[in-house]
Amino acid sequence: MDRIYLDHNATTPVRPEVRDRMLPFLGELFGNPSSAHSFGQEVKVQFEEARQRIADQLGASPAQIVFTSGGTESDNYAIKGTAFAAGKGHIITAMVEHPAVLQTVSWLAKKGFDASYVQVDSSGVVDPDEVKKALRPDTILVSIMHMNNEVGTIQPVEEIAAITKEAGVYFHTDAVQSFGKLPTKVDDLGVDLLSMAAHKIYGPKGVGALYIRKGTRIDPLIIGGAQEKRRRSGTENVAGIVAFGEAIVQAEAEREQLYSRLTGLRETLVKGLTERIPEVIINGDPSKTFPSTVSASVSHVEGESLLLSLDMEGIAVSTGSACSSGSLEPSHVLVSMGIETVLAQGTLRFSMGRGTTKAQIDHLLEVFPPIVERLRRMSPLSASKAC
Ligand SMILES: Cc1ncc(COP(=O)(O)O)c(C=O)c1O
Repeated sequence: MDRIYLDHNATTPVRPEVRDRMLPFLGELFGNPSSAHSFGQEVKVQFEEARQRIADQLGASPAQIVFTSGGTESDNYAIKGTAFAAGKGHIITAMVEHPAVLQTVSWLAKKGFDASYVQVDSSGVVDPDEVKKALRPDTILVSIMHMNNEVGTIQPVEEIAAITKEAGVYFHTDAVQSFGKLPTKVDDLGVDLLSMAAHKIYGPKGVGALYIRKGTRIDPLIIGGAQEKRRRSGTENVAGIVAFGEAIVQAEAEREQLYSRLTGLRETLVKGLTERIPEVIINGDPSKTFPSTVSASVSHVEGESLLLSLDMEGIAVSTGSACSSGSLEPSHVLVSMGIETVLAQGTLRFSMGRGTTKAQIDHLLEVFPPIVERLRRMSPLSASKAC
């Protein structure tokens, strides 16, 4: 069997239609969209069409979309931009956010802003009442993600938005994992700022966007030639942006059909893992989790060893742990959900996508249980349990 890719939350392969759409911009369509001549203007037309496509997906107007270099920049821009415009104040976020949000908030905290971190329940869900309790008169921003990248948890963004709206506080959501996979109409969600990235929806890496509701006070982070209506200077990544526009149209066209296919694959995977491997825990509440993601904690083994063994079998997954300077740090998301450190370290994330088939999942379910058994036999973690 060919190699199997089960790491779609990390990135996705570029769709052939998307690649075809971007190629002319690496060839004859090389003009700078800021140029007044025909070379520039023919590029600008297509580039603005991509902005319209992103805006349509959000139910927003094109003027509210700023192109960026990806999810990390969009998160930085939303959080630092509103903080800089306010000058001082308090920011609320959640313990389960992506580092692009968590690190940005903690950086601002070192610069004199205040930060509060709301906890999640054992399924990884933020309680909107906790956000309400954390609000202060000087709160300037709440940043809670739409879909978690490690577990797939979908946060109650609409309920949190009702709270921030009443309090007159800006609400940013990191929708990098949900854009193109779940409905993301900004008025339905009630958000003021929303981060997106193309490479999670079969577009290229290094391109993203930030939705900014009209009237939001936000400073630019990147200053220079006044592109993007002075909100993000620098000659735009035209090929990437046009490709992003194509990727979202394609993703939306198959969104519902893919959701139901992934739901079936998820059921097969979860059933197979829990039936064939003793002492495996599936993290998160399936009713509040996007079906592409299965986070499984396997007791008495290290996730890194599982990952490498699967890789040798041609199956790509990811761990729930970040390996830093040789020591295994348990995932902050799993730890926030109350999962024991040692179990968090034995966690794998299987993230499926449009190329995932039932045959691939069946193959994984053949290969994986003997790997777990072998590693458990060798593992000091199971030996220490025996003592
Ligand atoms: C939830 C979330 N936010 C932000 C990012 C960062 O996006 P990018 O890799 O485009 O900078 C990711 C990427 O993994 C993500 O999953």
